[in-house]
Formats: sequence, C-alpha cells, structure tokens
Amino acid sequence: MFKEKPKLPSLKIGEYEPKYPIIQGGMGVMVSGPKLAGAAAAAGCVGTIASVGLAASYPEFNALGDSREFDKENNKILARFIKQAKEVSRGGIIAVNCMCALSNYEDLVRTSCEAGANIIISGAGLPLKLPQLTEGFPKTALVPIVSSVKAAALIATRWLKNYNRFPDAFIVETPNTAGGHLGARDEEQALDPQLSLQEVVPALVKYLKELGRNIPVISAGGIWNSGDMKESFEMGASGVQMGTRFAATEEGDASDRFKQAYVDAEEKDVVLIKSPCGLPGRAIMSPLIERYLSGGLQKAICRRLCLSHCLLRTHSETFCIAEALVSAYKGDWENGLFFCGSNVFKVRSIQKLKEIVNELISDFSLTDLQSEV
Ligand SMILES: Cc1cc2nc3c(=O)[nH]c(=O)nc-3n(C[C@H](O)[C@H](O)[C@H](O)COP(=O)(O)O)c2cc1C
Repeated sequence: MFKEKPKLPSLKIGEYEPKYPIIQGGMGVMVSGPKLAGAAAAAGCVGTIASVGLAASYPEFNALGDSREFDKENNKILARFIKQAKEVSRGGIIAVNCMCALSNYEDLVRTSCEAGANIIISGAGLPLKLPQLTEGFPKTALVPIVSSVKAAALIATRWLKNYNRFPDAFIVETPNTAGGHLGARDEEQALDPQLSLQEVVPALVKYLKELGRNIPVISAGGIWNSGDMKESFEMGASGVQMGTRFAATEEGDASDRFKQAYVDAEEKDVVLIKSPCGLPGRAIMSPLIERYLSGGLQKAICRRLCLSHCLLRTHSETFCIAEALVSAYKGDWENGLFFCGSNVFKVRSIQKLKEIVNELISDFSLTDLQSEV
C-alpha cells in the first residue's frame, strides 16, 4: 500500500532557517573550507568552515613557522573565506566552527563575527565564555557541541547566570561514531552506549522542554542516509550534522589524495587514538598512526603552539597535530592524520554534494519552500 512520506522538519537556529535541516559539519584542517561550506549553503544546508589551520592552504605560510605570524594570517584568511563562502552560496547560511581547545580560540570567534558568520558552532571543550566573546554581535547564533546532557546543562546554566543568554541550538555529537576529536575522557568512554544519540538526544530534548526552552537539538555522528535522519527526527532532533559523507565530495576542500583515502578505507581501518590534545579521536589507520601505535614515531618538538593543552609540548608524547592534519589535507599518506567517522567505509566514490543532498531529502515530503529549485 502507498505509504505517505514523513515531513522534513524545519530547523531554526536563532534567526536563520536553512531550506533543509542539515548542517555540513566543520572539518579542519581545510577539509571544510570555503568551497565545501559555500556549496553546502547553496544547496540549502548550513555550510560550516572549520576555522583551524586555514593558512595551511597558502603555500607561503608554513604551518610550522612562526606561530604568531601563522595565526595572524589565519585570521585574515578566515575573514576572506567567510566572504568567499557567502558569495558561492548566494545568500546561504554560513557557520564557522571554532574549537575551544585552540590557543587562538578567542581570536577565531571574534574574527568570525566581524566577518559576518551567521552561526558560531563551538565544541572540543566547553564554550563557557562564548557569549562574552561574541558581545556586540547579537544576530550571530551560538551553538555549542556537546556529548551529554550534563555538558549541555552546565553550559546553559553558566550562560544564563553570567550573560543572561541561552544557546540558539545544541548539537549532540556522539563519540560512538563521529569523526575528528571526540567529547569523551578516553577511548573506552568514546564507545560507551550511554553517549549514543539514542540515549542523549531524547534526554536533552526532555531537559530543554522541562526548562521551557524551545530550541533545536541537532544529531551528529554516524548519520549517513535518510533512514538515519528519520531515526534522529523520531528521537526529537530537529536537524542533523554530517561530516564524513560531505568530506569526500567534489566540492570538498581537501586534496584528491585525502578523498581517495576515504574511498579506499574499509571498516577495519577505522581506529580510535589519543590525540595530542588529550581527547580521543577517530581516524583512518595510516602509516603515521601505525608508527604512533607501535611506538615507532620519531621524537618531535612542538613548534606551533596551536593547542592550549598539548601532550607533545608538555610530555613529549604523541605527535604534532598541526603537522599531521596539514599533511593529510595535502594528501601525504605517509605522514597525515586522516580523521573520519565510523561510516567512512561507506564512501565508495567522490560525489557531487548536491547529489547527496537530493538523495537525503528524497524520502521526505517537502513544503513548497523546500521543493523550490
Ligand atoms: C576530517 C574531520 C575533521 C573534523 N574536524 C572538526 C573540527 O575541526 N571541529 C569540530 O568541532 N568537529 C570536527 N569534526 C566533526 C564533524 O564536524 C562532525 O560533527 C562529525 O564528523 C559528524 O560525524 P560523521 O562524520 O559521522 O558525520 C571533524 C570530522 C572529520 C571527519
């Protein structure tokens, strides 16, 4: 019998409402730059530029040179990339992802606001001071990334008490499946089912309802197709954030070799590692990770000062994350750290972003506005 398609929910973040309730997640270093974010926003999603390490895309700026010069240049490039993404998207919604763990976090947030970012998405730590850093930009929507209700409640309580401000949305990113740095103590907790979307999303929706706060909850981690989206919407989410599937698109800003690593990856190649910032991270098993896990890495020194807390700097442990991520972006398979979500083995070819978005929405019934081309 003919079964009616479910409705695609609307996602309103502050004063911004994308056509589709899909956020292309921020992916550093230069995996989601202006091309990917612009294309995602043009396709009706929220496009996100990851603010970390953008200067690596300019050959004259050696990521390992003078860190202050690099950061200064990174700010200029960030402002330029926000403008570029806005032009590509022709009026679409552009967010910037700023990670709390970065030593130049405050500058990145400020620059993003000044350059006209519509939304600041902030995780890899608790963005407790975000309202203060964005003072004077009341239209910029603020969205923390959390992995538990406890973290969301702490942010909400502090923001209300100190700034009389409430987040415009929460992204729940589950460490069980997501790519990049994960919101968990260690690798064991990263796999804890208590931190699954199925546990945390409904609990956060309930918490916000009890507080009388009608703001969207967005699911991130392991979302691949319309079935995953439906499952999230049924749990009470109003949107989804996807990283891995969008990283290996034609519009993705990383090198072809980076994207090929996604196409080649099998399920068994996905590993959890302890990153230099102390958080667990999910990545493809690559020669660098093999050397790291087997204790065969050559001793390095921290020259970039990019993280406020770095195990390489303080304990001569792990590796230089700036160097490893820049190498991955450039396609250096031997020396790169290729962050990915657990779904990476499903990437079988490099697709156009619009093709993916069309596939994702095809199982939903659309409003007139959503159907407009
Ligand atoms: C290559 C890569 C880099 C990432 N970099 C960042 C980042 O800089 N900041 C951040 O908050 N999240 C980062 N993430 C997480 C994504 O924004 C997104 O939330 C996550 O990938 C969702 O899970 P999925 O990949 O299973 O879709 C990264 C993910 C990947 C795959």
